[in-house]
Amino acid sequence: MKTSIPQVPEGGLDSFIGSTEHKELLCRFFVETHNPYAPDSLPWPALGSDARRRLTALPIWEEAVKTEAETALAVTSMGEAEKDPVLSHAIKLQGYEESRHAQILKLLTQKYGIPVPSFNPTAPRDPNWAFMRIGYGECFDSFFAFGLFALARESGFFPPELVTLFEPIMQEEGRHIIFHVNWVAYNQAKLPYAGRPGYVFRRGLAMWLQAVSRLKTALKVGRNAGTQDNFTMNAHKSFGDFSPRAFVELCLSENERRLAPYDKRLLRPAFVPAVARSALKFLPA
Ligand SMILES: [Fe+2]
Ligand SMILES: [Fe+2]
Repeated sequence: MKTSIPQVPEGGLDSFIGSTEHKELLCRFFVETHNPYAPDSLPWPALGSDARRRLTALPIWEEAVKTEAETALAVTSMGEAEKDPVLSHAIKLQGYEESRHAQILKLLTQKYGIPVPSFNPTAPRDPNWAFMRIGYGECFDSFFAFGLFALARESGFFPPELVTLFEPIMQEEGRHIIFHVNWVAYNQAKLPYAGRPGYVFRRGLAMWLQAVSRLKTALKVGRNAGTQDNFTMNAHKSFGDFSPRAFVELCLSENERRLAPYDKRLLRPAFVPAVARSALKFLPA
């Protein structure tokens, strides 16, 4: 069945953001680009002893399993709490994708004998706030994870079969951060003018709290190179030497490449790439 494509109204993007067309485009983009693979049918490759040791030694698995399980439950809770059926459907689908990430990580740790303690997340008391914080956290993490993944692929750190297997997860995180920035902008634009400053403050606080949590991790890593606490801050050490500038450039180009295929009328995350571009002015060539 052919669906009509919403057009940007005459007032331009400003009047499009927050419109029913914006919401429908956002949800349709998300649902139509969903990749329906089943985690237990993924072709886990047999790894040689070197590749297995490198994979097992990555200090990320406990944190990754915990984060994906918490995220899956929080996003699903938000999908259930959302009153708008179109948004609710798209957010529940995102919750399903996150639970699939958690399942894939569990399968990986079982398959390659990586010890990870079991973890039972608790549902958030305020799903909307949890969903907003998760979205900003994913905007930070995905930007660096895109670069790290490219580095792992190009350096041969991961065998090609494992890169192929994880590729859909990376791309899904790209769809999640596009969903997040448009969901936030849509909700803000829907508010009456009097309600907007409060929402802007809530957004700023959510972003700030996520930035502080990443900064704390970075400082901890600086003090203790062996810390187990954060994927992107730690994993780069496992991929060999590269300059900070080359890494930031790689993150920027990967971020652009991953977000390029989707409808141009949808907003893209802007804050982290802008900070990264500013950082390039100060990083040595
Ligand atoms: Fe995820
Ligand atoms: Fe995600």
